This record gives sequence, structure tokens and C-alpha cells, in this order.
Amino acid sequence: QSGGSEDQKRRAGERAAARVDDGAVVGLGTGSTAAHAIRELGERVDAGLDVVGVPTSFASRELAREVGVPLADLDAVDGVDVAIDGADQVVGVHSDDETGAASSVLVKGGGAAHAREKLVDAAADAFHVVADPSKLAASVSVPVPVEVLPAARTVVADAVRDRGGDPSLRRADRKDGPVVTDNGNLVLDCTFDAVDDPRALATALSTTPGVVEHGLFVDLADTVHVGTDDGVDVHDL
Ligand code: A5P
Repeated sequence: QSGGSEDQKRRAGERAAARVDDGAVVGLGTGSTAAHAIRELGERVDAGLDVVGVPTSFASRELAREVGVPLADLDAVDGVDVAIDGADQVVGVHSDDETGAASSVLVKGGGAAHAREKLVDAAADAFHVVADPSKLAASVSVPVPVEVLPAARTVVADAVRDRGGDPSLRRADRKDGPVVTDNGNLVLDCTFDAVDDPRALATALSTTPGVVEHGLFVDLADTVHVGTDDGVDVHDL
């Protein structure tokens, strides 16, 4: 959860959902901001829009079912036209930047859904990020979630420490024990003092045996919709 207001998130989510064309296959992101987009899509489906949603998590599947967005799995569709997803941090996009940045880095996985999110978001022809201003940052300054095979948690933790990180096994709020992802894996939240080169860190994590997926999304976003108190700033990347 972020420091942004629900209205800011709603504006971002609704704007991105309004851009979805009739007949589109839509990646349905996870989190409170993407949820606004899913609800808006549900309203548009009620009004006659023909779309198929590809959920990125148990939660986005449940919400889409509730609001009436037809669903299909990623392996059952012929490509994804657009994905709409939130982020825990958006690096390289600034609220006073009219033209947008040349590239961006997202940190995702606050809801432990980043593996399927990256799969669907990367598969999409267009990836629209929905966020509020509290998510914008000059550098990566939140822990990087790393989904690991259960048997790999200690070796991956050691590899993260070797790179100067501090890994912490994510624990469940209302259960004695760890968070288990929708894929049956564990999550290490990895704090780094400074991430000078997010691309290099992303590559290092991706090539560590036992890592299923990490939450650094490098150069994947095409557009960032930032909901504000009086509108939406749209940054095309
Ligand atoms: C889920 O794992 C995350 O990647 C979410 O997309 C992210 O946490 C954004 O959530 P909010 O929109 O609730 O801040």
C-alpha cells in the first residue's frame, strides 16, 4: 500500500481502463490501483465492451469475476494487447516532466504477485502503469521482492548478501510462517543501501539459481498514468 489517496489511484486506474479498445485482450494487474482499472473495465463490459482479461494473481482473478470481466489464462490467448498494472515504486519518471523519461524502472511485488505480473506485462503490446504521486522516486529506495523456490531461500539470501543486500523472508500477517506466493514459492524482501545500477542488479538476480522472479521491471513500461488530486498526468516513455 502506498501513501497516495484512493481518489488519486482511482483516477489513474480509470484513465488507463478508458484507453482499452473493443476486442482487446487485457492483462489485469494486482494491487489497489490496478483494482480501480478492473472495476472500470467491469463497468465498460456492462455497457457493451468486448474484452478478455488475463489475471496476474488470485486477487485480480477474483475481482474480475466479481465485476464481470471475462477471463482467460495467458496460455489460452493469442497475445495480450494491453496490460494495466500498479507499482510500488516508479523510478525515472518525474511529476514535473512533461515529456516523460526515456526509460523507467519499476519496483513491484508488494503483493507478492510480481512473477505473473512480469509475465503478463512483458507479453503485452502496451504496458500501462497506474500509480499515485507517492510512488515516483529518483532511485530505487524500497526493498526489492525476490520470489524464490522454497529450497533456494538460503542460497539466494547468501547471493543477495554477496551483492550488498539484506534479505528478509516475507512473513504472513495472520499465519505463523512465511508468505507463500500464488505459485507456491517464498519471497525475500531485499534491502539495498543504494541501487546505482538497477539494470545490473536485475540481471544479477535473474541469473541467480533458485530465483523465480524479482520485482525490478526494467524498460517494460510504455506509459505511466499518475493520478493526482485534480486529474491524471500521463507520461509516455
Ligand atoms: C503486487 O505484487 C504489486 O506489484 C502491485 O502491483 C503493487 O504492490 C501496487 O499496489 P498498489 O496499487 O496497491 O500500491
